Amino acid sequence: MNLESIRLNLIEITWDDLADIHKLHSFPEVDEFNTIGIPVNMNDTKEIIRPFIEGRTLTPRKLYTWKITIKESGEFIGLTGITLSCDKFRLGEIYYKLIPNHWGKGFATEVVRTLIKSGFENLNLHKIEAGVAIENIRSIKVLEKSGMIREGLRRKTLPIRGNWVDNYLYAIVEDDLRDY
Ligand SMILES: CC(C)(COP(=O)(O)OP(=O)(O)OC[C@H]1O[C@@H](n2cnc3c(N)ncnc32)[C@H](O)[C@@H]1OP(=O)(O)O)[C@@H](O)C(=O)NCCC(=O)NCCS
Repeated sequence: MNLESIRLNLIEITWDDLADIHKLHSFPEVDEFNTIGIPVNMNDTKEIIRPFIEGRTLTPRKLYTWKITIKESGEFIGLTGITLSCDKFRLGEIYYKLIPNHWGKGFATEVVRTLIKSGFENLNLHKIEAGVAIENIRSIKVLEKSGMIREGLRRKTLPIRGNWVDNYLYAIVEDDLRDY
């Protein structure tokens, strides 16, 4: 299931995207609030993305991972995805990350809005969540610009470089107001 927004294509990842994903995960700025850590080598990245690629063939499907590319140029600029709960809860959790020289152009907001719209319209979700480290101001702005509501603070939840970091939980429900 590929998606698109005005400026971007979201294309499900394959093994051909390994080198781009490795490069993305190797930026210290991308790693700052992430729990994955900087991969030691390409093999590390391969094992990290294996469940996301192999998850494509599982039924029922729980994982979607897309590379983010610019429509005009085809350039790889990041990665995004959604993890689905069991059917009864109709809940999805999203994440996203971009190559730093593409930050501040509104791309992440465009991605998040696309995931939310598709989650409600194509995946029949009732609620979509995202967790964000409390100091990740850029990401908090992205979630709030997309109409997500802060539901709470989860204390000492994220293992980041040897510390337990607090995490805000954001969410949007299918009948919450959206301007997109
Ligand atoms: C979080 C991330 C995806 C944001 O991407 P982005 O494309 O720059 O996001 P957008 O341009 O859509 O919006 C960023 C907003 O933060 C604002 N912003 C940027 N730097 C900021 C700062 N230091 N302080 C406050 N706001 C800031 C921007 O002005 C923009 O808001 P605006 O549109 O109201 O001006 C990107 O920084 C990233 O990939 N970070 C590393 C991975 C990560 O943390 N992912 C999220 C995990 S929850």
